[in-house]
Amino acid sequence: MSNLDIDQMIRRLDDLAQGYQWSQVLFRAVHADIFTHTRNWNTSEAVATAVKWDARATRMMLDALASQGLLEKERGRYRNSPVAAQCLLPGAPSDQTHILRHKAYGWDTWGQLETALQTGTGVLREEKTRSDEELRAFICGMADVGRQSAQRILEALDLSKCKNLLDIGAGPGTYAIAFCKAHPEMRATLFDLEDVLPIAREEVEAAGLEDRISYRAGDLTTDSFGSGFDLIFVSNIIHSYDEATNRALVQRCHDALSSGGMLIIKDFLVDADAVEPAFNFLFALHMLVHTEAGDIYTTAQVADWTREAGFADGDYHALAPQVRALTSQTRMWCVTKP
Ligand SMILES: C[S@@+](CC[C@H](N)C(=O)[O-])C[C@H]1O[C@@H](n2cnc3c(N)ncnc32)[C@H](O)[C@@H]1O
Repeated sequence: MSNLDIDQMIRRLDDLAQGYQWSQVLFRAVHADIFTHTRNWNTSEAVATAVKWDARATRMMLDALASQGLLEKERGRYRNSPVAAQCLLPGAPSDQTHILRHKAYGWDTWGQLETALQTGTGVLREEKTRSDEELRAFICGMADVGRQSAQRILEALDLSKCKNLLDIGAGPGTYAIAFCKAHPEMRATLFDLEDVLPIAREEVEAAGLEDRISYRAGDLTTDSFGSGFDLIFVSNIIHSYDEATNRALVQRCHDALSSGGMLIIKDFLVDADAVEPAFNFLFALHMLVHTEAGDIYTTAQVADWTREAGFADGDYHALAPQVRALTSQTRMWCVTKP
């Protein structure tokens, strides 16, 4: 084994071990809205005054952010790098600030990983127990990561024949909004918890789609979804639940679809025996600490649930990596009701 190999091994371990420190640097910067104060060249003293931080501490933070390529530094002044200008400024073209705030809320829960490993279950953080601010970070965070993903789905699938979409656990409605914009004949129902629907409504109104998108409050783990839909979309839902709950959910989707209708299940699906993408396996642990029985599932498991519910065999579509994690791989399973 050469010295270089050992150097690389130690650096790899250093990178893993320091991950939590870099997370905290990024979270604090977004929380304090640092990047709003570095839109133009600015000194660390002026930034410190604006965000009410200590001047020496602020200089250290800005240097750390610059070392990661999030700020540029010149003659003692700092300015947003292209990454910060594109993703870290609230309202920026690829704004990621809500999802980063949402991830920051996971800090304390992740601190209890040892307990979750011993008990096999997480510290429950159901949507109804979140503060308003936390709920908004979560739901708007889903929009941060969903915008690009929705375009990828539109590129991968022909939804032009679908007129009546049910989006289960729709969150901010990002996908239904994108699908309706792309297909003027489509109407959509957004199904989610009562507290979440007002946030979805804001997004729908901003998109000018209030006449084509309606809302239904309910519990996706128990409620019937009605009938007559020709497209049901279940995105990033199954990872929160155990297999039995997901099987029952898929069955109720089957019941709600008209003959010939399509079910799309999108999630962090992996192949059996896969060890990558790393993002997905970290996400499985995220579900361990945050949910009672959530997990990531294999493509074979999802195919099994849909077959059992009465769907014909379908297709997998690998979507391009999501913005929030370039190493993540999101896949879709599309099946049709005979
Ligand atoms: C991870 S988000 C996914 C949002 C959206 N489908 C997407 O992919 O961007 C999960 C969504 O499921 C909703 N949800 C969680 N538990 C639910 C329940 N029991 N009944 C209805 N909706 C629920 C949450 O409010 C949230 O909007």
